[in-house]
Amino acid sequence: VFVSYVNVLVVRWKGDEIVTFCASIGVLDSGVGGLTVVREMFRQIPQENVIYYGDTARCPYGQREPEEVRRFTFEIMDFLMEQGVKMIVIACNTATAIALNEARVRYSVPVVGVITPGSRAAISATANGRIGVIGTEVTIRSEAYVKEILRINPDLYVRGKACAEFVPIVEAGLSDDPSVYRIVDESVQDFRADEVDVLILGCTHYPLLQSMIARSLGPCVQLINSAEETARDVSAVLSERGLLNQNNSQANHRFCVSGHLERFEAVGREWLQRHITVECVKLD
Ligand code: DGL
Repeated sequence: VFVSYVNVLVVRWKGDEIVTFCASIGVLDSGVGGLTVVREMFRQIPQENVIYYGDTARCPYGQREPEEVRRFTFEIMDFLMEQGVKMIVIACNTATAIALNEARVRYSVPVVGVITPGSRAAISATANGRIGVIGTEVTIRSEAYVKEILRINPDLYVRGKACAEFVPIVEAGLSDDPSVYRIVDESVQDFRADEVDVLILGCTHYPLLQSMIARSLGPCVQLINSAEETARDVSAVLSERGLLNQNNSQANHRFCVSGHLERFEAVGREWLQRHITVECVKLD
């Protein structure tokens, strides 16, 4: 494989034939959560090739030490760079909170995270200036959302809460299970008394529990899923840098995980509404 100087074109020798194709966008998460961002990317920029890495064997990241999250994130980013990606999307709030700034210095390709797009969407959605954020322990402890929202508008009220049980539920494929509702309801009920009118789903796994969260909080609280805004950022950055795929042929996607394939494949099929083939790629 030869990757051209700006990581736009990948050239492969297939027997005597030389095949060229547009470089992929690398997307990473600790597991299935980043697929919520991929779904929006498929909708907004369907011509783009995607290579996804879900670190399912080491998921969840949200209760780990920040240094460990940082190391895992860079291991995955190194792998994606070896595949010749032209951009990387850190489709994980936990990894964005810990590693985004450093990643932007470390890698030569543009790197997009999910916290700024989610914060922006929440700020434009709130009418009463009171915003809630749910996320993993690492994300909430980092205060990345609070800092980003107050940087944009210091007059807003922001309160975060960690929901440690949500990621294992989603990874286990139990997002539709009625028994999960009680856990979801108990976890978000403080936000009712807090009178927030917007709640950021500050973990890319949480949109898979969106209908239960919405049922628990009712119609007065608007839920913000950063996927849509993130995909818009991805498209804007590609266009600004002249990196958009101009090729009209069918996009080609790869899904890699570090753990079991079947569960990921099932959630992926359900969420993306298409069949996906998943490969196991160990990095450690
Ligand atoms: N999906 C991730 C996030 O957005 C990580 C969840 C986890 O592994 O704890 O934070």
